[in-house]
Amino acid sequence: MRFGHFDDKNREYVIETPKTPYPWINYLGSERFFGLISHQAGGYCFYRDARLRRILRFRYNNVPADSGGRYFYVREADGDVWSPSYMPVKSELEAFECRHGLGYTRITGKRRGLSVELLAFVPHGVDAEVHQVTLRNESASPREVRLFSFLEFCLWNAHDDQTNFQRNLSTGEVEIDGSTIYHKHEYRERRNHFAFYHVNQPIAGFDSDRESFIGLYNGFHEPDVVRAGKSKNSVASGWSPIASHSVDVKLAPGESKTLVFVLGYVENPKEEKWEKPGVVNKRRAKELIAQFSTPEQVNAAFEKLRAQWSGLLSSYRLSSSDEKLNRMVNVWNPYQCMVTFNMSRSASYFESGIGRGMGFRDSNQDLLGFVHLVPERARERIIDIASTQFPDGSAYHQYQPLTKRGNNDVGSGFNDDPLWLILGTAAYIKETGDYGILDEQVPFDNDENNKASLFEHLKRSFYHVTQNLGPHGLPLIGRADWNDCLNLNCFSETPDESYQTTGNRVGRTAESIFIAGMFVHIGPEYATLAEKRGLTDEAKKARELVKQMSDTVLEHGWDGEWYLRAYDFFGHKVGSKENEDGQIFIEPQGYCSMAGIGLESGHVKKALDSVKARLDTKYGIVLQQPAYKEYHLELGEISSYPPGYKENAGIFCHNNPWIIIAETLLGRGDQAFEYYKKIAPAYLEEISDVHRTEPYVYSQMIAGKDAVRHGEAKNSWLTGTAAWNFVAVSQHLLGVKPEWDGLSVRPCIGKDIADFTIERRCRGATYRIHVKNQGRGGKVALKVNGKAVAGHLVQYAPAGSTVEVECEA
Ligand code: BGC
Ligand code: NOJ
Repeated sequence: MRFGHFDDKNREYVIETPKTPYPWINYLGSERFFGLISHQAGGYCFYRDARLRRILRFRYNNVPADSGGRYFYVREADGDVWSPSYMPVKSELEAFECRHGLGYTRITGKRRGLSVELLAFVPHGVDAEVHQVTLRNESASPREVRLFSFLEFCLWNAHDDQTNFQRNLSTGEVEIDGSTIYHKHEYRERRNHFAFYHVNQPIAGFDSDRESFIGLYNGFHEPDVVRAGKSKNSVASGWSPIASHSVDVKLAPGESKTLVFVLGYVENPKEEKWEKPGVVNKRRAKELIAQFSTPEQVNAAFEKLRAQWSGLLSSYRLSSSDEKLNRMVNVWNPYQCMVTFNMSRSASYFESGIGRGMGFRDSNQDLLGFVHLVPERARERIIDIASTQFPDGSAYHQYQPLTKRGNNDVGSGFNDDPLWLILGTAAYIKETGDYGILDEQVPFDNDENNKASLFEHLKRSFYHVTQNLGPHGLPLIGRADWNDCLNLNCFSETPDESYQTTGNRVGRTAESIFIAGMFVHIGPEYATLAEKRGLTDEAKKARELVKQMSDTVLEHGWDGEWYLRAYDFFGHKVGSKENEDGQIFIEPQGYCSMAGIGLESGHVKKALDSVKARLDTKYGIVLQQPAYKEYHLELGEISSYPPGYKENAGIFCHNNPWIIIAETLLGRGDQAFEYYKKIAPAYLEEISDVHRTEPYVYSQMIAGKDAVRHGEAKNSWLTGTAAWNFVAVSQHLLGVKPEWDGLSVRPCIGKDIADFTIERRCRGATYRIHVKNQGRGGKVALKVNGKAVAGHLVQYAPAGSTVEVECEA
């Protein structure tokens, strides 16, 4: 069952009913000011850091779901009250539509012939959300309505806001100035920032105190003020500051009117905080407001946003006969990559924005799907991430975006982390040719007195693995590797201990075959970089270590039909046919296969056949089988989940693309594409009632076959699935991949996709690639500008040039 449709031309998903199976959200902003907005106008916004600079309050896991947001109440002359976004009033609407586009959302509701549209976006370079509200009288009689706006401020620190009521209920302060409500909580003390909500009209009244506006025992759907039809002009003092305007609108039949609301954030220099004692200096706010005082200004900013996205997306453009594939590749997957790059795993409808900083592992992987969009920002990110690395090559697992410092609460010890830095950096250099980044002087643990080149950081990442090997010569797992829930040194019997940070045993025995696979896959990138720097001996040494690791995997990491997962604290196998549950795991099958460990000897084929036979389901590939039925002290969090959810045999979408990529290595394009279609959201649109999360973005997890709710997804938006599936589809299925010395063109997508064209911009040149596809399993014949070339590499062309590539595949 569908709840909307894709509008490909406008690059929008159009939701046709407020009653979706879950709030379906979108993101506003891509630089400093970010908003999350649901199809019912729910959500919140923040400046740079979702925890420390939260502007709107949001109550997670609330009843009803998705309450709190940017609300508008229409009050008709006869007392009828409704909201164009359906929530919060929930009066039935004649028509409802929500268009989530790239960086904006347009929600339209209609009741008794009056249509009200809300367009919300964050204009480029501006620290504000613009809410443009257009009322259209489509009925035959004149209308007089009073429109009430409403939003509720968070007292900045979102964690403190939800926990420290003894203080916070006494500190809220506001100022009212004409049609602008200023939120200046803590401005008198250490804060130099404030927020405001403005409308470009004279107002009939305002409210800034929540209790006065709503009534203590009422819900958002029945504010006292709206029911009475008259603002109370309340001035908040402590308690919960809000911003609400009331505006009178008269409309002749056929007439429409547009109002512009601006929700802005301003920082004042310390010495310019006050206009006079106790009065906020509003100069910067007024300047911001002046940029959006007319609908013309708003439209110009909106067109700029649209044009900006057209520019970004033109770096990879597919035109094929499969419209679902086109919309994933051209629009929604890169869009989600931008969002994951910006947010890491901080703020979504499943991540509260107060729990986690940016992940070291996460951010490096997010780069893989983002680097072609804005390479300069990827560069900056790499330096930020590397600056949190420890001198011994290990890494803080997370860091805070506002301070860019490593997070001590979580600490380090996730032994896969260091290698991802090599992968992220390699992807950046392949995309840009900017080898200069390797010479950047980058601190360790943010210590300016201890710096080394980025190349030296990568070197330490590489050797962190070989300096931490266990009894079988395989990498020690530490607290966990990619699978945060395989905690082999944790042994937790005490509720409330964190599986991720508790190590009750100090062991140098538990080993990870997954990290071994990573080392063999990513190690050669390090070796190549060493070579490019003329360090021939270093490169040779690195390649030998990689070869050795590959041999070790075949000797100690192979279970007969598939790669083992790990050795536990006691040296027992994990992910083996000898185990009762958890006999086969997806991660090492993906990573060791992508690394090509035992490719010639048939190990890869066997491993992937085992994946197909044991892990594949109709909704995607599950993480392991059989699911753990009991809690295993020696395995940790993985066995804490009910069978079929999360890491305990859920379809953890992040690792499906590893199998897809590995299948293309074997030349099995049909199989690879089939796996792709099972989890790519556009292909799941028809089963939205089962899948439940947004049909335009990936979710982290879809419940596995052991789960009660097989096929139901959770944790949409912020997942490494976005980046990895973009890599899988753009570089392996469609087969266009920047390599060190040229653009590799080697599609392997099976026979179902007939001929297709890709336009790829890389290093300033444009490549127009026409593929005649017969599904030859990655075997290609290329012509570059009319001339046949051997192999699959197209030499990089000078910036500004266009290269025509004919490819038979
Ligand atoms: C989740 C993981 C997550 C980890 C760290 C666990 O509870 O299952 O997916 O990575 O927490 O936040
Ligand atoms: C979520 C984390 O963000 C990701 O890094 C991790 O690998 C998965 N959990 C698997 O546990």
